[in-house]
Amino acid sequence: MDADRFSQGAAWVDGDYVPIAEARVPITDWGFLRSDATYDVVHVWKGRFFRLDAHIARFKRGVDKLRMTLPVDDAALSAILHRCVSLAGLEDAYVEMILTRGAPPPGSRDPRLCRNSFFAFAVPFVWIASEAAQETGISLRISDVVRIPEASVDPTVKNYHWHDLTRGIFDAYAHGDATAVLVDGDGNVAEGPGFNIFTVRGGKVATPDSGVLEGITRQTAIELAREAGYTVEERPVPADELRRADEVFITSTAGGIMPVSRVDGVQVGEGVPGPVTTALRRRYWEAHADPRWSEAVRADGAA
Ligand SMILES: Cc1ncc(COP(=O)(O)O)c(C=O)c1O
Repeated sequence: MDADRFSQGAAWVDGDYVPIAEARVPITDWGFLRSDATYDVVHVWKGRFFRLDAHIARFKRGVDKLRMTLPVDDAALSAILHRCVSLAGLEDAYVEMILTRGAPPPGSRDPRLCRNSFFAFAVPFVWIASEAAQETGISLRISDVVRIPEASVDPTVKNYHWHDLTRGIFDAYAHGDATAVLVDGDGNVAEGPGFNIFTVRGGKVATPDSGVLEGITRQTAIELAREAGYTVEERPVPADELRRADEVFITSTAGGIMPVSRVDGVQVGEGVPGPVTTALRRRYWEAHADPRWSEAVRADGAA
């Protein structure tokens, strides 16, 4: 029965599990009205959560930075996520946890008076790039859109300030590309809609060190690259470096480590996924069975 009701996904709203299509946010919630919320996305692959602890830890850092209070402890939070996945019967899932500011008492505009609301849901796995695009490599546009500065919105708090990223996506589509990366005010690349970016040149791996979300997949790629003996530099990456790189790849929970084969219409390296990207991508998916980083979905959600 449950499997049918929840087959498109399951959500946790206001203390209850509901089918994803029935999950609602009150219209007065500042999460909706003001993008006043933080969230995190973890995935489940072949029945196992990947780096759930790291995602929960990042989510809680965001909650603290926004001066919000999470109404659930780690064990309860984790149990809700496990239960959403098992209710939906998903082997591969995209699992989101959200804390919104909530609504203030009638007539008030004081964020301190809002009661923060926790939501969660699990839906079938979401990919930034199709499997076919991952085999050949993604076409990426370096957008002119400047990523909202970190002095305005802290990019290390995972947030819904996506107008700039969405503009970037439309920019990419207008040029016939699959997705875009945004720049910062100094002409360095920042990040794209839901992903971090890496270059490989002369066997050295580089990724922007500031103005970006500290992606869990970014961190995993850095660790796997170092384990494989590569030098990894976290530093400003000029937009031009992407056009001259041997390899470019992007990282996201929504698809892992994904090769880029064209930047601004020009092929990267040989124009096919390069050896470093291919090796890291293989190691990334192998790591999903490693108990160091993954845990099986619990049917009842209980710890
Ligand atoms: C703006 C932004 N940058 C980077 C990422 C990648 O982070 P992660 O690897 O933790 O999914 C995301 C994830 O959705 C994101 O929204």
